[in-house]
Amino acid sequence: MSYLENAKPVTLAELARLRSEGEKIAVLTCYDASFAALLDRCGADVLLVGDSLGNVLQGHGSTLPVTLEQMAYHTGCVARGLGTRGRPFLIADMPFGTYQAGPEDAFRASAAALQAGAQMVKIEGGEWIARTVEFLTQRGVPVCGHVGLTPQSVNALGGYRVQGKTAEAADAVLADAKALARAGASMIVVECVPRDLGARLTRESGVPIVGIGAGPDCTGQVLVIQDALGIQPGRAARFVRNFMTGHDSIERAIAA
Ligand code: KIV
Repeated sequence: MSYLENAKPVTLAELARLRSEGEKIAVLTCYDASFAALLDRCGADVLLVGDSLGNVLQGHGSTLPVTLEQMAYHTGCVARGLGTRGRPFLIADMPFGTYQAGPEDAFRASAAALQAGAQMVKIEGGEWIARTVEFLTQRGVPVCGHVGLTPQSVNALGGYRVQGKTAEAADAVLADAKALARAGASMIVVECVPRDLGARLTRESGVPIVGIGAGPDCTGQVLVIQDALGIQPGRAARFVRNFMTGHDSIERAIAA
């Protein structure tokens, strides 16, 4: 019997423990019940119902068209796949337009995600969203921040570009992460930044830093499941590795 069969569900305290003991956190996106059960069996620590479903499930060119109803639907599918004894911690992305205007909007949207089965919500943004993070955490909603490349701002950023390349830009990303951590975020995703900045965030922010295209030194890594299995519809980002290469089953690829 694998240790996973008797493993306790991952909690916020367990995520903090993994960080303080220098253990890595494995995060994968998931959008349905079958993959939820499979990723649980394979040992994923955290599942993220990402608004990347706009790209990989719906075929859009960005995450912007994804709605709260769609996020709640897929969160419910994943939560049912995990069941009451599932081990991974479940995070749901808050889609574009549901939290940027203010804390009350963010709370209403988060309530829908938590009622669908999420245990934490993820919102994109830096210092400007810290007041919303504080508002949510004070009301019992655990929050994961998302800094660096924030895909919902693709139009403002002028494309999916590496962020934090100059010393000034790197300091700004670090200031964003620290503001979110001070406001109560329990975890922060950092996307597409140079390796040094990923390492600095991990050392200095005080919360688990989960990287995607942010180098190997982060507390954990997150991958879109389609990317990890080499079935993304478009061109893969440079940091993406196809884990099916050299593995003869999805289970072995995911475990790797
Ligand atoms: O939407 C998503 O899947 C994400 C991850 C890529 C971090 O935000």
